[in-house]
Amino acid sequence: MRISVIGGGYVGLVSAVCFAQLGHTVELIEIDIDRASSISQGSPQIYEKSLEALLSKHLEKSFHVSTAYDAIPDTDISFICVGTPEGDNGDPDLSIVQSACQSLGRSLRDKDSYHVVVVKSTVPPGATEGLVVPTVLKHSQRAGDETGFCMNPEFLREGRAVEDFMHPDRIIIGSNDSRAGDRAESAYRGIEAPIIRTGIKSAEMIKYASNAFLATKISFANEMGNLCKRLDIDVYEVMKGVGMDHRISPHFLNAGAGFGGSCFPKDLSALIALAQSLGEEPLILRSVQNVNERQPARILELLQKKIVRLEGKRIAVLGLAFKNDTDDIRESRSIPVIMKLKEKGANIAAYDPKATGSMRKLIPDIEYCSTAADALRGADACLVMTEWPEFSLLDEEFDLMKNRVIIEGRNILSCQDKEGICW
Ligand code: UDX
Repeated sequence: MRISVIGGGYVGLVSAVCFAQLGHTVELIEIDIDRASSISQGSPQIYEKSLEALLSKHLEKSFHVSTAYDAIPDTDISFICVGTPEGDNGDPDLSIVQSACQSLGRSLRDKDSYHVVVVKSTVPPGATEGLVVPTVLKHSQRAGDETGFCMNPEFLREGRAVEDFMHPDRIIIGSNDSRAGDRAESAYRGIEAPIIRTGIKSAEMIKYASNAFLATKISFANEMGNLCKRLDIDVYEVMKGVGMDHRISPHFLNAGAGFGGSCFPKDLSALIALAQSLGEEPLILRSVQNVNERQPARILELLQKKIVRLEGKRIAVLGLAFKNDTDDIRESRSIPVIMKLKEKGANIAAYDPKATGSMRKLIPDIEYCSTAADALRGADACLVMTEWPEFSLLDEEFDLMKNRVIIEGRNILSCQDKEGICW
C-alpha cells in the first residue's frame, strides 16, 4: 500500500517509519524545512528507542520525506499526524489540523481515484466530521464519495513508541463507511492486535477517555500515597497488593511527583473544557488535575521541613525529563519545582542524562551539570524528579553532598536515608 503521513513529529515520524517496516511505501510530509532535512539525513531529531535504526533502514528505499504535498495523489491513504497543542481555556488548538487539511485537500484535486484520509492527531469528539471532512472536501472539490474518512487514535508512549506501534493492545478504527475503514485496517496488516471498528466520534472519545483514566489512576495512587505517608505505610507495598486484582491491574499505580508529558495534562484540560462547554461539571477530572498540580509542592514542603531558609543553598535536582527514556521536558514536574526553588533564592545544580539541552532553553539561568556526582558535590539537599534507572545506582555520590538531605519524587533510589514524597 502507498501511505502518506502528514507531520514528522513523534507520532507522525514513528508511524511513518513503522508503516515502512510493515512493508508499505511511505511518503512523509513535514513542512518544517529543518526537521524535514534532518529526517532526510537519517536523524529523527527526537530520542526514541530504535527509531533511528529503522529510519536509516528504510530511508530512500520505501520511505521518503518531503516538505510539499506533491506525493499525496500517488498514495492510497493519508494519515494526519500534526500537533494539537493546548489553546485558550484548555481547548486544543486545531489550527494546524485545519491548515494540513487545506493543503491535503488541494493536493487531491487532480486525483481521479478513491482516497482515504485518516485523522491520527488527538482531536475532540466531533472534530473529524465537523472540521476535517468539510475542509478536505471544500479544498479538494471532489465529490463526497471519492474520499473516505477515518479516525485512528494513537496510544504511543514516548520512549517506547516504536514498540507500542508494533505491539499495541488494540487498534481503534473509527469510520462511517466500511470501504474507508477497511483500507485503514489494511495499513496495519502484519500487526497482531485486536482491531476495534467504531464510529468516528467514539474513536475520538476513546483516546481522551483512555488518557483521562490513566491520569486518574496516577492521581489516585498519589492521593493514597499522601495518606500512606501520614500513616507510615509504604504505598508501593499497598499498590502492589491493590494492582494484583485483575479488575484494577498493576499499571499506572506508581505514586510520585505526578504526571507530565505532552498528552495527559493537555488531554485532561481538553476533556474538562469539553465537559464545561456541554454544561457538565467534570468533578473527577478536576480532582485528578488538582492532585497532580499539588504533588510538586509537596516535595518542596518536605525540603523546607529540613531546610527552612533555601536562599543561597545549593540544591541538586536530578532528573529534568517528564519521565525516563526521553529528552522531552513538556509539563515535567521538575519545572514547577525549579521555578519555586529559584523564587526562594536557592542555587540549583541540575542534571539529566538526556534532557539538559531542552531544559536549558526553557530555564537558562541555573547550573547544568554533566554528571549526577557534579550536581551532588557540595549540595545542601538533593531532589530526584525523574525515574532514570541510573539514579538507582547512585551510592557513594551522595557522600559528596554537604548535607545528606535526599528527597525523591520517584521511587528509584536504593540508599537507606532517603525520604519519599509519599512513602
Ligand atoms: C501517554 C500515554 O501513555 C500514551 O498512551 C498516549 O498516547 C500519550 O501519553 P507518555 O506521555 O509518553 O504516554 O508517558 P507515560 O508513560 O504514559 O507517562 C506519563 C506521565 O505519567 C509521566 O510523567 C510518568 O512519570 C507519569 N506516571 C506514569 C506516574 O507518575 N505514575 C505511573 O504509574 C505511570
